[in-house]
Amino acid sequence: MALLEIRDLRISFMRRGRPPVRAVDGLDLDVDGGQTVGLVGESGCGKSITSLSVLGLLPKRGVEVSGSIRYDGIELLSLNDDARRSIRGREISMIFQDPMTSLNPVVRIGVQITEPLRRHKGMTKGAAMDAAERLLRRVGIPAPRQRLGEFPHQLSGGMRQRVLIAIALACGPRMLIADEPTTALDVTVQAQILDLLKEQVVESGTALMMITHDMGVVAELCDHVTVMYAGRAVEAGNVRDLFAHPTHRYTAGLLAAMPRLETPRDAPLNPIPGSADQKLPWDDGCAFMPRCAAATAACGRGLPPMQSTGWNAVGGGLDEEHLHRCLNPAPALAKKAMTP
Ligand SMILES: Nc1ncnc2c1ncn2[C@@H]1O[C@H](COP(=O)(O)OP(=O)(O)O)[C@@H](O)[C@H]1O
Ligand SMILES: [Mg+2]
Repeated sequence: MALLEIRDLRISFMRRGRPPVRAVDGLDLDVDGGQTVGLVGESGCGKSITSLSVLGLLPKRGVEVSGSIRYDGIELLSLNDDARRSIRGREISMIFQDPMTSLNPVVRIGVQITEPLRRHKGMTKGAAMDAAERLLRRVGIPAPRQRLGEFPHQLSGGMRQRVLIAIALACGPRMLIADEPTTALDVTVQAQILDLLKEQVVESGTALMMITHDMGVVAELCDHVTVMYAGRAVEAGNVRDLFAHPTHRYTAGLLAAMPRLETPRDAPLNPIPGSADQKLPWDDGCAFMPRCAAATAACGRGLPPMQSTGWNAVGGGLDEEHLHRCLNPAPALAKKAMTP
């Protein structure tokens, strides 16, 4: 049993006089300790809503959630608010995209880091300050004691993201959920933050759920990846298999659009034409159909299930873990350059 097990998760937003928005529709996902699992897809495909549901942070009204989210064997969806609060921050921590809006601009860094330590661990102010200093040092912030007395605007974007990670790590959580944590940062700082997260997973055996729209981040960091499109998983597998042999056309498109070192600078990027807004309701077939060059009439009739791709590019033979939801999968291609 994995540390986090999401099964058949469905999240709908109710709208007055109109059909509900199905933001997540039948998602399965496992994350285990010491493992990094990527959740990938374009903006609006349901990644953030999925992470908020794990943390119990979805709006209380107008949202319907069903399925199961088990953490360490505990069903999170049936916990009351108090029980959820005690899991959040202590067992499962979240790192959000934008450190400036996640940090309180008028509260000193030290107070923001010591708050979870005092609340969850009952530390005294002095002990919590010492722990906060160690945490800042741990995430690579120079002169940590001095930084504790500063305000968020006195730090660079990269330093603020490090502070957020320090807050997330404060109570020694067994699981981290990072929602596009490097999107707002420049490439060098992005690489440093990814290294820091990697270190945390390897050294502390933390489970990491990495939400991103960037296949480069997946290649860099993840063991396993689930690709979402319009609220549903369309392909899932271990990263080496999925990069070596992407089978759903959307995954293949994401990988083809990924800039690579050997790509000439003036070569056009290969973005997938269209946008996810054109999606059909999934009931009528594959939601990617309007954008898919390989679509046939059959793709518009009924929902294909997640099934084995039948490929295991790395180990050979049938791979029960590499799954996709596609009637006309991409043919086997030698995609050596894509292997991370
Ligand atoms: N409060 C809300 N009310 C209605 N729809 C929402 C709300 N929040 C999110 N959604 C819808 O849920 C879908 C998934 O959103 P989100 O998880 O934020 O996407 P992502 O993180 O992948 O960009 C979007 O299509 C969005 O329109
Ligand atoms: Mg999001």
